[in-house]
Amino acid sequence: MGDYPEDLRELVDDYLARLGFSSAPSTAGLEEAMRYSLLAGGKRIRPVLALATARAIGTEPEQVLPGAAAIELIHTYSLIHDDLPAMDDDELRRGMPTSHVKYGENVAILAGDGLFAEAMRLFCERQQGDPELVVAALGELVSATGVGGMVGGQYVDVTQIDVDGSSGRADPDALREMHALKTGRLIAASVGVVLQLGGIPEDARIPYRGFADELGVLFQIVDDILDVTGSDEELGKPSGSDERHGKLTYVSAFGLGRARELASESHAKARDALGGAGAATDDLARITDFIHTRHT
Ligand code: IPE
Ligand code: IPE
Ligand code: MG
Ligand code: MG
Ligand code: MG
Repeated sequence: MGDYPEDLRELVDDYLARLGFSSAPSTAGLEEAMRYSLLAGGKRIRPVLALATARAIGTEPEQVLPGAAAIELIHTYSLIHDDLPAMDDDELRRGMPTSHVKYGENVAILAGDGLFAEAMRLFCERQQGDPELVVAALGELVSATGVGGMVGGQYVDVTQIDVDGSSGRADPDALREMHALKTGRLIAASVGVVLQLGGIPEDARIPYRGFADELGVLFQIVDDILDVTGSDEELGKPSGSDERHGKLTYVSAFGLGRARELASESHAKARDALGGAGAATDDLARITDFIHTRHT
């Protein structure tokens, strides 16, 4: 994956592989389903971003591993639910059958619920730091997940189709807002949580926040493009899913060429914002470039 910080990804993967949730025999099947989706692969962009942010502010990446892993648990839950028949109805994820295909819808729903709750537990029990900072960081993560974040954005996404299928819905501001909610806020929180844990003063956070917000939107624009240009094998998920479901995306709204231009503009904005953030931002810059040029 080019210059992607593989050392940070390994730290994340090792940490996730060691996580267990309960030793009760009655829930072993639930635990299996949770670990199936969590350990199926995945780029680990959110936790790697968190660890790279730690580096940028002079914190050892290992110190923020519980918080970073909690973000990946929440992301994995969002993927399990996103793929459900009532949502995007997809059967392939991270190169494997989706949770509901393998374990049934009832277990898939619970695996998602379980991952969310266990993310909270991980954060509360294992994330070290000044308790006030830990609570502020957790608050940022939860709010990025809630109605003003991922869940709210997913609501906008699924109700768009139900409202109407006409081109009148392709309002660029509304589209950007949907992407900022459903994907952007959790990506931005991957940076924001670490700034909170590090007790970085509000004024010093501003360039990071500008960077992280733009990065989140860039990520989803590229996801929309790859849905059209990628293959199932490269993506590990079904390409063409958005078109099949009549989704509002950057490609459906603007066409592929313009969507690519908008991705480049967004990438340039994110890089510019990062320029104002400080010296040790090399890994963050590499992740930004990877998010723009990725094929997976
Ligand atoms: C896919 O996220 C879902 C979106 C928010 C677009 P990723 O592309 O980060 O998926 P994984 O974690 O690598 O599988
Ligand atoms: C999903 O967006 C965003 C989430 C909150 C999971 P998509 O529906 O485009 O994600 P993919 O393409 O299925 O990964
Ligand atoms: Mg979706
Ligand atoms: Mg989907
Ligand atoms: Mg997509």
